[in-house]
Amino acid sequence: MKGVVLVGGTGSRLRPLTNIINKHLLPVGDMPMIQYAIEKLAKAGVFDILIITGKQSSGLYVDYLGGGERFGVNLTYKIQEKAGGIAQALALAEDFVHSDEKFVVILGDNLFEDNLHPIIHTFEKQVEGAMVILKEVADPRRYGVASMKDGHIDRIEEKPEKPNSNYAVTGIYLYDSSVFAIIKSQVPSARGELEITDVNNVYAAAGALTHTFFTGWWIDAGTHESLFQATLLVRKEEI
Ligand code: G1P
Repeated sequence: MKGVVLVGGTGSRLRPLTNIINKHLLPVGDMPMIQYAIEKLAKAGVFDILIITGKQSSGLYVDYLGGGERFGVNLTYKIQEKAGGIAQALALAEDFVHSDEKFVVILGDNLFEDNLHPIIHTFEKQVEGAMVILKEVADPRRYGVASMKDGHIDRIEEKPEKPNSNYAVTGIYLYDSSVFAIIKSQVPSARGELEITDVNNVYAAAGALTHTFFTGWWIDAGTHESLFQATLLVRKEEI
C-alpha cells in the first residue's frame, strides 16, 4: 500500500511561527513535525510515499527529507499551487496511486501513538470504500465529528457547534482509488475549500465508510497550545 502525507496549508493558527516556515517543519520534541508521519508509515510497512506541499518551504522539505533513504522510504513530491482544502490537495495524488490500489493518507499535523500496521492490514481486507480512525475527545468541536447509527458512521459533521458524539475523526484516512472520482464531484464549502469531510460523507452515504479507533494518544498539533502538548507527548513516549 502507498502513503500520502499532506503538508500544505497556511497554518494560520500557528502565526507568527508559520509566517517564516511551513507548519509541518516546526519542531515537535527533537524532530520536525513531518518526520513523525514518515516514520509511522515506514513502521507500518508503507515505503512508497508522496508528500504534497504548498509552495511555502517546499525546498526545505527536500533539503531535510531528500529521497527518503535515511528513513528507509522512497519519497515523491508534488506541489499544491494554491491552498484549496485537504480534498483538493489529495486530488494531486491521482497519478501516484494506481487505479486498483488502496492507500493511506496522513495529515502532517496529526501525531499519534498507535502503530498503523494492524489498521492498514484490516483495510487491505476491506473490498472497497474508505476507513477513518476515530478518537474520543472531551471537546470535539475543532474537528470532524462522527454521528453514529447502529455501530456505523451515519455522517460526519465538520466542526459542529453542537456535536452529536465525542468521536473526533482523526486526520488519518484510508481510501480506495474511487476517492479521486468523488473529489471531482465535490464543490467548495462556505470557506471556499474542497472538504475531506464531504468526501468521506459520500462513502458514508453509500455504506462504504468503515471506522476503527486509536487506543493511544492522538493530537492535531495545529495550534500553539496543541503544538506544545504534542512535544510533551512525544517526549513522554521516548522515556
Ligand atoms: C481537518 C479535517 C477534520 C479533522 C482534522 C484532524 O481539520 O477537516 O475533519 O478532524 O483535520 O486533524 P483542520 O485541522 O484542517 O481544520
